[in-house]
Amino acid sequence: MKTILLFIGLSWVGWEAWLPSAHPTRLPAFKSESVADSGKVIYDTYCLSCHQANGAGVPRLNPPLAKTDWVLGDKTRLIGVLLNGLDEEVEINGETYANAMPAHNFLTDKQIADVLTFVRTNFGNQASAVMPEEVKEVRSKKK
Ligand code: HEC
Repeated sequence: MKTILLFIGLSWVGWEAWLPSAHPTRLPAFKSESVADSGKVIYDTYCLSCHQANGAGVPRLNPPLAKTDWVLGDKTRLIGVLLNGLDEEVEINGETYANAMPAHNFLTDKQIADVLTFVRTNFGNQASAVMPEEVKEVRSKKK
């Protein structure tokens, strides 16, 4: 009886090995998912129309996102632009802008983190990533 059970056990293991689908270690759908990918999708959807595909903006209307103090500087201030929008006269890289940017607080913490990480690592920018926890923190302190 013991031998039979052992045999069944062994043959079961044997069959498992023959079925590749028995071990779905990686789902293709998640394979290419990365912060950079999702950040770009969010950028293309919500930011590109004003700040342009190359982040250069539109002179005197929408400021560039390439190498600006706002993008590369203090993350709390940067996150605040997305949560609150921005409507003041700002000088960015020698040009004055007075148009209003609408708040994007409908985006999730992760979406804001991903899009800001994308912006901070593209258009010639080289700054650290923004984490969802940092967005959460700024959002929670908002009155
Ligand atoms: C309707 C147009 C519009 C959209 C959409 C928009 N912005 Fe802006 N953005 C502006 C304008 C205009 C300003 C300047 C506001 C001011 O002068 O007070 C600005 C300012 C900024 C700034 C700070 C100044 C700078 O250039 O460094 C950042 C950063 C920024 N936007 C990022 C984003 C991101 C990221 C998105 C997408 C989630 C986005 N914006 C969507 C128009 C827009």
